[in-house]
Amino acid sequence: MKYYIVTYGCQMNVHESEKIAGILERLGYSEGTCREEADIIVFNTCAIREGAEDRVFGNVGNLKRLKKKNKNLIIAVCGCMTQKEQTAKKLMDTFPFLDIVIGTFNVPKLGYYIEQVKKGRQLELLEEGDIDEVLPYKRTSGENAWVNIMQGCNNFCTYCIVPYVKGREKSRNEENILKEIKEIISEGKYKKITLLGQNVNSYGHDLTPAIPFSKLLHDICALEGEFTLSFMTSHPKDLTDDVIDAIAKEDKIEKYIHLPAQSGSNRILKLMNRKYTREKYIEIINKIREKIPNCRITSDFIVGFPTESEEEFEETYSLVETVRYDSIFAFMYSPREGTVASKMEGQIEDEVKNERVNKLLSLEKKIQKEDNKR
Ligand code: 5AD
Ligand code: SF4
Repeated sequence: MKYYIVTYGCQMNVHESEKIAGILERLGYSEGTCREEADIIVFNTCAIREGAEDRVFGNVGNLKRLKKKNKNLIIAVCGCMTQKEQTAKKLMDTFPFLDIVIGTFNVPKLGYYIEQVKKGRQLELLEEGDIDEVLPYKRTSGENAWVNIMQGCNNFCTYCIVPYVKGREKSRNEENILKEIKEIISEGKYKKITLLGQNVNSYGHDLTPAIPFSKLLHDICALEGEFTLSFMTSHPKDLTDDVIDAIAKEDKIEKYIHLPAQSGSNRILKLMNRKYTREKYIEIINKIREKIPNCRITSDFIVGFPTESEEEFEETYSLVETVRYDSIFAFMYSPREGTVASKMEGQIEDEVKNERVNKLLSLEKKIQKEDNKR
């Protein structure tokens, strides 16, 4: 029996697919090389922008012919997109041949669902699960080992769907994280360990007793073995001095921070509910560069947020010029149903968004060229 997994979206989803692969292998499946030879196909979806969802609809639709050829083929869709009740329904309605449609919390029980499908049931389930469940990962990223340290997000940036599909922040116990990392080190084939969370800097606030993220970093670095440690994603409002100091001091921590600014305009940052200003952001960047010389810094930007004027976009442009990032991701704002920003007046036309995103990316290209030369 073969499985084939299609993954969309961020690093956390890549890691989630490693969990899915682990579960399927324990059930006796092995990895197939293409959809045609699979007995089960799993789509692990992303909901962050509309484009990601459109792609899923297209690709799932294409499977109808395979299902016709092989009546026993099981098709499952899971992840952030299917955690939204309306989207899950729409998928089921559009593609009645789907066998399993489950949300972000149901993956651990995938084996049980497969059994149910074999008994003739079609499943749509959206319920909560436990982040500390011990599951067998099939690590698939070469020398990189991903480690989840928390799930969910409490920030409710007004453009973002994540808090709605991943729930509130829940940190894993430090003990369990350290145990997982010790196992990774003892396997001897991983050189790089990356801690994952939507907002890693607020790790441990919800634990009793609370643990600062910097303590987790120091405790991991104290483990014996040769490895480098990195983490993502950091929120500028929570990147405290003790974390910057930990990166500076610990040889094992990679000198790299992904610090999404999203915009360079204070009015837009406020509308986004980001809870920092342009000035505060630049102050953090200066502190990082002072304490960690040669630290690589990268960022995410959203252009065309509702009501963003040309001048406000220019402020984002000038922030990129000022900081001179090692690289950036720039996205056109995509309204997500249910979020505050999707209901705002003053939505920007796609043409304008497109123009702004291209301007920002050309600037970044120019900066990278100049810095590479140097
Ligand atoms: N539209 C466009 N980009 C978005 N991001 C998050 N939500 C949206 C949205 N609705 C971007 C942010 C975030 C990155 C992962 O995706 O820049 O940092
Ligand atoms: Fe979304 Fe903001 Fe949470 Fe990041 S911090 S996941 S952008 S709500």
